[in-house]
Amino acid sequence: MMRNVRVIVGIAGASGAALGVSVVRQLREVGAEVDLVASAAAQRTLKEEVGPDAWDHLKAQASQVHDVHNIGASIASGSVPVAGMIVAPCSMRSLAAIAAGLDDNLLTRAAGVQLKERRRLVLLAREAPLTLAHLRNMTSVTEMGAIVMPPVPAFYLNPTSVNQIVDQLAARAIDVLGIGGGLADQWQETV
Ligand SMILES: Cc1cc2nc3c(=O)[nH]c(=O)nc-3n(C[C@H](O)[C@H](O)[C@H](O)COP(=O)(O)O)c2cc1C
Repeated sequence: MMRNVRVIVGIAGASGAALGVSVVRQLREVGAEVDLVASAAAQRTLKEEVGPDAWDHLKAQASQVHDVHNIGASIASGSVPVAGMIVAPCSMRSLAAIAAGLDDNLLTRAAGVQLKERRRLVLLAREAPLTLAHLRNMTSVTEMGAIVMPPVPAFYLNPTSVNQIVDQLAARAIDVLGIGGGLADQWQETV
Protein backbone atom coordinates (compact mmCIF):
# COMPACT_ATOMS: atom_id res chain seq x y z
CA MET A 1 0.00 0.00 0.00
CA MET A 2 1.10 3.54 -0.78
CA ARG A 3 1.03 6.06 2.01
CA ASN A 4 1.31 9.81 1.45
CA VAL A 5 1.34 9.47 -2.33
CA ARG A 6 -0.92 12.10 -3.84
CA VAL A 7 -1.93 11.98 -7.49
CA ILE A 8 -4.05 14.40 -9.51
CA VAL A 9 -6.55 12.77 -11.86
CA GLY A 10 -8.00 14.98 -14.57
CA ILE A 11 -10.93 13.82 -16.66
CA ALA A 12 -11.48 15.76 -19.89
CA GLY A 13 -14.36 15.43 -22.32
CA ALA A 14 -12.96 12.83 -24.69
CA SER A 15 -14.59 9.49 -25.27
CA GLY A 16 -13.45 6.90 -22.76
CA ALA A 17 -14.73 8.43 -19.51
CA ALA A 18 -14.57 4.94 -17.97
CA LEU A 19 -10.77 5.26 -18.11
CA GLY A 20 -10.91 8.05 -15.54
CA VAL A 21 -13.22 6.01 -13.33
CA SER A 22 -10.83 3.05 -13.45
CA VAL A 23 -7.74 5.19 -12.77
CA VAL A 24 -9.36 6.69 -9.66
CA ARG A 25 -10.51 3.28 -8.39
CA GLN A 26 -7.13 1.60 -8.92
CA LEU A 27 -5.20 4.48 -7.35
CA ARG A 28 -7.43 4.28 -4.28
CA GLU A 29 -6.98 0.48 -4.16
CA VAL A 30 -3.21 0.90 -3.89
CA GLY A 31 -3.67 3.51 -1.16
CA ALA A 32 -2.90 6.71 -3.08
CA GLU A 33 -4.65 9.98 -2.35
CA VAL A 34 -6.57 11.27 -5.36
CA ASP A 35 -7.24 14.91 -6.20
CA LEU A 36 -9.95 14.84 -8.86
CA VAL A 37 -10.84 17.50 -11.41
CA ALA A 38 -13.22 16.98 -14.33
CA SER A 39 -14.06 19.41 -17.13
CA ALA A 40 -17.63 20.41 -17.97
CA ALA A 41 -17.46 18.25 -21.10
CA ALA A 42 -16.30 15.30 -18.96
CA GLN A 43 -19.45 15.57 -16.84
CA ARG A 44 -21.35 14.95 -20.06
CA THR A 45 -19.24 12.03 -21.34
CA LEU A 46 -19.38 10.41 -17.88
CA LYS A 47 -23.16 10.63 -18.00
CA GLU A 48 -23.46 9.39 -21.59
CA GLU A 49 -20.83 6.63 -21.46
CA VAL A 50 -20.77 5.43 -17.85
CA GLY A 51 -24.19 6.34 -16.49
CA PRO A 52 -26.29 9.03 -14.80
CA ASP A 53 -24.70 8.46 -11.37
CA ALA A 54 -21.10 8.15 -12.59
CA TRP A 55 -19.96 11.56 -11.38
CA ASP A 56 -21.50 11.08 -7.92
CA HIS A 57 -19.83 7.67 -7.54
CA LEU A 58 -16.52 9.09 -8.68
CA LYS A 59 -16.68 12.02 -6.28
CA ALA A 60 -17.29 9.60 -3.41
CA GLN A 61 -14.06 7.75 -4.23
CA ALA A 62 -11.73 10.74 -4.54
CA SER A 63 -9.87 12.17 -1.55
CA GLN A 64 -10.54 15.69 -2.79
CA VAL A 65 -12.74 16.95 -5.60
CA HIS A 66 -11.97 20.31 -7.20
CA ASP A 67 -14.20 22.53 -9.30
CA VAL A 68 -12.64 22.95 -12.75
CA HIS A 69 -13.25 26.72 -12.49
CA ASN A 70 -11.52 27.02 -9.11
CA ILE A 71 -8.13 28.22 -10.28
CA GLY A 72 -7.27 28.96 -6.62
CA ALA A 73 -7.45 25.27 -5.63
CA SER A 74 -4.46 23.66 -3.89
CA ILE A 75 -3.46 21.71 -6.99
CA ALA A 76 -3.11 24.96 -8.97
CA SER A 77 0.14 25.57 -7.09
CA GLY A 78 3.49 23.88 -7.53
CA SER A 79 4.12 24.31 -3.80
CA VAL A 80 1.71 21.44 -3.08
CA PRO A 81 3.64 18.17 -3.31
CA VAL A 82 1.99 15.63 -5.59
CA ALA A 83 3.57 12.68 -7.39
CA GLY A 84 2.14 13.78 -10.74
CA MET A 85 -1.01 13.83 -12.81
CA ILE A 86 -2.90 11.52 -15.13
CA VAL A 87 -5.45 12.97 -17.56
CA ALA A 88 -7.76 10.09 -18.48
CA PRO A 89 -9.09 10.58 -21.03
CA CYS A 90 -7.52 13.75 -22.44
CA SER A 91 -9.48 15.62 -25.11
CA MET A 92 -7.80 17.36 -28.03
CA ARG A 93 -9.00 20.69 -26.60
CA SER A 94 -7.30 20.11 -23.25
CA LEU A 95 -4.24 18.74 -25.04
CA ALA A 96 -4.07 21.93 -27.12
CA ALA A 97 -4.46 24.13 -24.03
CA ILE A 98 -1.69 22.23 -22.22
CA ALA A 99 0.56 22.38 -25.30
CA ALA A 100 0.05 26.15 -25.54
CA GLY A 101 0.51 26.68 -21.79
CA LEU A 102 -2.89 28.36 -21.51
CA ASP A 103 -3.67 27.21 -17.94
CA ASP A 104 -7.25 28.26 -18.73
CA ASN A 105 -9.02 26.08 -16.17
CA LEU A 106 -7.98 24.02 -13.16
CA LEU A 107 -7.39 20.85 -15.21
CA THR A 108 -5.04 22.51 -17.69
CA ARG A 109 -3.48 24.66 -14.96
CA ALA A 110 -2.70 21.58 -12.82
CA ALA A 111 -1.22 19.89 -15.91
CA GLY A 112 0.91 22.96 -16.59
CA VAL A 113 2.09 22.92 -12.99
CA GLN A 114 3.34 19.33 -13.40
CA LEU A 115 5.34 20.43 -16.43
CA LYS A 116 6.87 23.47 -14.75
CA GLU A 117 7.76 21.44 -11.65
CA ARG A 118 9.23 18.70 -13.89
CA ARG A 119 6.84 16.09 -12.50
CA ARG A 120 5.21 13.27 -14.42
CA LEU A 121 2.21 14.12 -16.56
CA VAL A 122 0.53 11.24 -18.38
CA LEU A 123 -2.05 12.14 -21.04
CA LEU A 124 -4.42 9.46 -22.32
CA ALA A 125 -5.07 11.57 -25.40
CA ARG A 126 -8.04 10.22 -27.36
CA GLU A 127 -9.10 11.12 -30.86
CA ALA A 128 -9.15 9.30 -34.20
CA PRO A 129 -8.11 10.03 -36.82
CA LEU A 130 -5.60 12.71 -35.83
CA THR A 131 -5.12 16.09 -37.51
CA LEU A 132 -1.76 17.73 -37.90
CA ALA A 133 -2.77 20.11 -35.07
CA HIS A 134 -3.33 17.12 -32.75
CA LEU A 135 0.01 15.60 -33.73
CA ARG A 136 1.85 18.91 -33.31
CA ASN A 137 0.31 19.39 -29.87
CA MET A 138 1.38 15.88 -28.88
CA THR A 139 4.89 16.71 -30.02
CA SER A 140 4.88 19.97 -28.02
CA VAL A 141 3.78 18.38 -24.75
CA THR A 142 6.27 15.55 -25.25
CA GLU A 143 9.04 18.10 -25.73
CA MET A 144 7.97 19.67 -22.43
CA GLY A 145 8.20 16.35 -20.60
CA ALA A 146 4.67 14.96 -20.70
CA ILE A 147 4.01 11.36 -21.66
CA VAL A 148 1.36 10.94 -24.36
CA MET A 149 -0.28 7.56 -23.92
CA PRO A 150 -3.21 7.11 -26.30
CA PRO A 151 -5.68 4.57 -24.90
CA VAL A 152 -4.88 1.82 -27.39
CA PRO A 153 -5.84 -1.70 -26.26
CA ALA A 154 -3.10 -4.23 -25.46
CA PHE A 155 -4.39 -6.77 -27.97
CA TYR A 156 -1.46 -9.06 -27.15
CA LEU A 157 -3.09 -9.78 -23.78
CA ASN A 158 -6.19 -11.15 -25.57
CA PRO A 159 -8.78 -9.08 -23.68
CA THR A 160 -12.29 -10.52 -23.66
CA SER A 161 -14.25 -7.50 -22.42
CA VAL A 162 -14.26 -3.71 -22.63
CA ASN A 163 -13.81 -3.58 -18.85
CA GLN A 164 -10.62 -5.61 -19.13
CA ILE A 165 -9.29 -3.21 -21.76
CA VAL A 166 -10.19 -0.17 -19.67
CA ASP A 167 -8.68 -1.55 -16.45
CA GLN A 168 -5.48 -2.59 -18.25
CA LEU A 169 -5.06 0.88 -19.79
CA ALA A 170 -5.70 2.58 -16.45
CA ALA A 171 -3.22 0.29 -14.68
CA ARG A 172 -0.59 0.99 -17.36
CA ALA A 173 -1.12 4.73 -16.93
CA ILE A 174 -0.50 4.39 -13.18
CA ASP A 175 2.62 2.31 -13.88
CA VAL A 176 3.83 4.92 -16.39
CA LEU A 177 3.32 7.62 -13.78
CA GLY A 178 5.94 5.67 -11.85
CA ILE A 179 3.93 4.64 -8.82
CA GLY A 180 2.11 1.47 -9.90
CA GLY A 181 5.01 -0.91 -9.31
CA GLY A 182 3.73 -3.25 -12.01
CA LEU A 183 -0.04 -2.99 -11.55
CA ALA A 184 -0.77 -3.78 -15.19
CA ASP A 185 -0.94 -7.29 -16.64
CA GLN A 186 2.31 -8.19 -18.32
CA TRP A 187 3.20 -9.98 -21.50
CA GLN A 188 4.21 -13.58 -20.82
CA GLU A 189 6.67 -15.05 -23.28
CA THR A 190 5.10 -18.15 -24.82
CA VAL A 191 7.89 -19.75 -26.86
C1 LIG B 1 -19.91 12.03 -26.28
C2 LIG B 1 -18.74 12.91 -26.65
C3 LIG B 1 -17.56 12.33 -27.06
C4 LIG B 1 -16.45 13.10 -27.39
N1 LIG B 1 -15.29 12.48 -27.74
C5 LIG B 1 -14.18 13.23 -27.93
C6 LIG B 1 -12.93 12.57 -28.18
O1 LIG B 1 -12.83 11.35 -28.20
N2 LIG B 1 -11.83 13.34 -28.29
C7 LIG B 1 -11.89 14.72 -28.22
O2 LIG B 1 -10.84 15.35 -28.33
N3 LIG B 1 -13.07 15.36 -28.04
C8 LIG B 1 -14.20 14.65 -27.88
N4 LIG B 1 -15.40 15.28 -27.64
C9 LIG B 1 -15.47 16.76 -27.75
C10 LIG B 1 -15.00 17.46 -26.48
O3 LIG B 1 -15.82 17.10 -25.39
C11 LIG B 1 -15.01 18.98 -26.70
O4 LIG B 1 -14.00 19.34 -27.61
C12 LIG B 1 -14.84 19.76 -25.42
O5 LIG B 1 -14.77 21.14 -25.73
C13 LIG B 1 -13.58 19.36 -24.64
O6 LIG B 1 -13.48 20.18 -23.51
P1 LIG B 1 -12.45 19.84 -22.34
O7 LIG B 1 -11.09 19.69 -22.94
O8 LIG B 1 -12.52 21.02 -21.43
O9 LIG B 1 -12.91 18.60 -21.68
C14 LIG B 1 -16.54 14.53 -27.32
C15 LIG B 1 -17.74 15.11 -26.91
C16 LIG B 1 -18.84 14.32 -26.59
C17 LIG B 1 -20.11 14.98 -26.13
